[in-house]
Amino acid sequence: MAELKVLFVTSEVAPLIKTGGLADVSAALPAALRAIGVDVHVLVPGYNPVMAQLAQHEAVATFDDLPGFPSSRLLFGRMAHDIPLLVLDCPSLYQRDGGPYQDVSGHDWADNALRFGLLSKIAAVLGSSASPLAWHPDLVHCNDWQTGLTPAYLHFAQDAVPSIIAIHNLAFQGIFPPATVQQLNLPPSCFSIDGVEYYGSMSFLKAGLFYAGHITTVSPNYAREIQQEELGFGLQGLLTMRRDSLTGMLNGIDTEEWNPATDPHLARQYSGADMTGKAADKQALQNKLGLIPDPEVPLLGVVSRFTHQKGLDLLLEIAPRLTELPAQLAMLGSGDALLQKTARDLAHRYPGKIGAVVGFSEALSHQIEAGADMFVMPSRFEPCGLNQLYSQRYGTPPIVHATGGLLDSVVDCTPATLEDGTASGFTFDGMTAENLFITIQRAIDLYHDKIKWKTLCENCMAKNFSWQSSAEAYRAVYLKVLGRQE
Ligand code: ADP
Ligand code: GLC
Repeated sequence: MAELKVLFVTSEVAPLIKTGGLADVSAALPAALRAIGVDVHVLVPGYNPVMAQLAQHEAVATFDDLPGFPSSRLLFGRMAHDIPLLVLDCPSLYQRDGGPYQDVSGHDWADNALRFGLLSKIAAVLGSSASPLAWHPDLVHCNDWQTGLTPAYLHFAQDAVPSIIAIHNLAFQGIFPPATVQQLNLPPSCFSIDGVEYYGSMSFLKAGLFYAGHITTVSPNYAREIQQEELGFGLQGLLTMRRDSLTGMLNGIDTEEWNPATDPHLARQYSGADMTGKAADKQALQNKLGLIPDPEVPLLGVVSRFTHQKGLDLLLEIAPRLTELPAQLAMLGSGDALLQKTARDLAHRYPGKIGAVVGFSEALSHQIEAGADMFVMPSRFEPCGLNQLYSQRYGTPPIVHATGGLLDSVVDCTPATLEDGTASGFTFDGMTAENLFITIQRAIDLYHDKIKWKTLCENCMAKNFSWQSSAEAYRAVYLKVLGRQE
């Protein structure tokens, strides 16, 4: 059988540009797919950090006359694991200070429709007979709203290949005024309920969900949840209608990048067989954040975007009570201004007990995963979540709200699950500060039973979160959409 060729289009890919888990997935999944024989090329916008890190590259195409869009070109290079990388170079849209979606003060870029309209359009051109490239994909794999118009453009193109769209977070939809349809050169007829229209506006994500050949999401549980009103963000009807074309597959992790036995960011490496180094990592983290270097007091870690989704308001609310248990808190994150301020204020009020770093630091994120005793992730909803996977790999049991991918990847610790070796953390139902507090207390009680705690940590480290089985599941979805048998 001919090799399967897939264009993977994404708005972020680690380590070139990252705001969250999508970047990790966009690096690790293509690598896992190539390892099982799928020829993946990744397409990403040429933001400043991407251009700065792009080593050897060549210009392979220019697009001067796409109606509605400024001129752009494609640069071909390689990313980690030698994966072919196509960078969409359009300086007027992508080369500016700030993040991929927002300016330095946290406001969405005013021209996001055009910026991600172009990304979607170019992916569709590459998947149609109009492509200027010699490499032709069999299928385009889109990710989130930023690529949501690709399936729509492909639908209206000549000799176009099929597409799938992966939902990493239904809360972000790319909603713009109706006139955007014409500006982005889509046929006016697609502005309908059977198309890109969403409650009177146009929605990039809705377009993707409507026109893609298949919809995937990043955990089986989230695939069920988004068909319900509570977490369907207004798209539950469409998702339920398309349920036979909707598959939830749990994300994996890059087990080389996230490996406590080799992690260069750690003060000391350690493994499941010999966890002694973890104590040194705890002490290093305590020192780094100005916490009292007491080896006995349980240290809770947080690495997160500071948003409503992540439920950190509940943790901040009970933080003073946690210090009395006693427990320490090490937090890294950025986002919502009020949450940032509250975290900083708490660190100020409880020196030696609460440490907060507001910002983005890859190194510190690894140091928290390793140095904390337990990891807190009380997300209101969580499509998959990667940090609870990293923390398990680092022998740092996660404490999570029982939702989305958290429920699919963390087994609550009870006498029975500890006994049968499946326990890997602590879960709670009912999104209240009190429920979180009780669950943290439950974890801390077990922490003081050194033998049971060691068993729990070893269970966590023995779990397999590699991408292999999910990569095979994605490949099966590709083949299904293409109507090909193995
Ligand atoms: P989401 O994508 O919703 O933010 P995930 O758990 O899937 O949540 O992925 C978050 C990723 O972003 C992880 O790799 C995490 O370590 C990283 N991350 C989040 N905030 C920070 C930060 N402030 N500094 C470093 N890494 C961060
Ligand atoms: C999103 C989700 C997160 C998921 C990540 C990667 O950012 O919020 O749960 O792990 O995408 O799929």
